[in-house]
Order: sequence, then structure tokens, then C-alpha cells
Amino acid sequence: MKLIFATNNSHKVEEIKAFVGNKFEILSLKEADIDIEIPEPFDTLEENASVKSRTIYNLTGTSCFSEDTGLEVDALNGEPGVKSARYAGEGKSFQQNIEKLLQILKGKHQRKARFRAAISLIIEDKETLFEGICDGKIIEEPRGEQGFGYDPVFVPDGESRSFAEMSIEEKSKFNHRTKAAAKLVAFLQTLKTTPPN
Ligand code: IMP
Repeated sequence: MKLIFATNNSHKVEEIKAFVGNKFEILSLKEADIDIEIPEPFDTLEENASVKSRTIYNLTGTSCFSEDTGLEVDALNGEPGVKSARYAGEGKSFQQNIEKLLQILKGKHQRKARFRAAISLIIEDKETLFEGICDGKIIEEPRGEQGFGYDPVFVPDGESRSFAEMSIEEKSKFNHRTKAAAKLVAFLQTLKTTPPN
């Protein structure tokens, strides 16, 4: 089965492809020759994921999925959440988002946080949603060079290294996105035996 992954984020594509392996053929927007920026205007990860997969499905008629992630920090009542990408303002860098987060959490002992990912899959016009959660904490200083986004300041439960100190394979043992993708793969495998009507 061929699926378009409706994202322009090459890190996300790399993570999902490494996880899915050759079970299914995954095409990034770039590989599908689609040049589009889809806005994420909604207040929930699920709605933002849905609008991205729906846009690509309507454009191509090909099965596709999209994903939206938020970093939910307990001491900030779940913020930045759905606004994680633009926490420091529209068009700001990963670095600036991290700086703002560390500044706001400075001196706070409660540093629990979680990444939550919502995946929206559309096959034959029918949408299914999957969720993946990774619990952990925000550390005081960025560590590591790998990954992207908030990876340098996030340490998952049961680890001492930040996501940015792990290889893709190591990160995928904990990672919110791969947990949601595991549910998606399990769902697709049921379709292989029972195609949708
Ligand atoms: P979005 O899903 O691309 O909208 O991501 C929202 C924000 O969370 C962006 O700032 C991303 O960089 C960040 N983000 C998404 N996934 C991850 C991850 O796996 N690690 C670190 N940051 C992430």
C-alpha cells in the first residue's frame, strides 16, 4: 500500500520511515511532488491533523496521513500544547521556542511534560485518528545535537538522556509519534486482510 505523509518536516518523515520500514510505502509531500503549506488554525491537535490529511486527500485521491504534535507542560497547565510550533511567536526558530520555555520554567521544580501526537489517516475518504503520548520532563539546559524542535530539552521517563542525545532508533522506543504510528501500522495491517468497503 502507498501512503502520502502530509508533512514538510523532513525529521518527521525520517522518523516515520525508519519505524515503518518496508511494511508500507511512505511518500513525503516532496516525493509526491506536492508543494503546499497547510495552515494549522485549530485549537486541537486532532483538528489540525485532520485538515492536513483532508487537504492532501482531496488534492490527490491517494491514501494519506498527517500528524500534529504538542508539548504539554504541567507547570504551564498544558501549554504550549497545540501552539508549540509558534510558542515564541510566528516564524520563530526551534531555538527561540526552547529559550522561551526555559525562561518561563526557570527556578520551577515541577518540570513534568509530555509530547502528544495525533495522526489522522484517510483511506477511501474515511478518516481514522490515532494518538501517541510520551511522558517525561523538561531539563534546565539544552543537551545533544540530534533530532529537532524541543528534543534538546526533553528527557523521556526512564531515561537520563534528552531526545537530542539519542539516535532515531533510540528515540523511537519512547517517541509519541512512533507510538501513534504503531497504532496506524496495526490498523493498516488489519485492512490488508479486510479491505474497507
Ligand atoms: P508540529 O506537529 O510540526 O506542529 O509540531 C509542533 C511543535 O512541536 C514544533 O515546534 C515541533 O518542532 C515540535 N515537535 C514536534 N515533534 C517533536 C519531537 O518529536 N521532538 C521535539 N519537538 C517536536
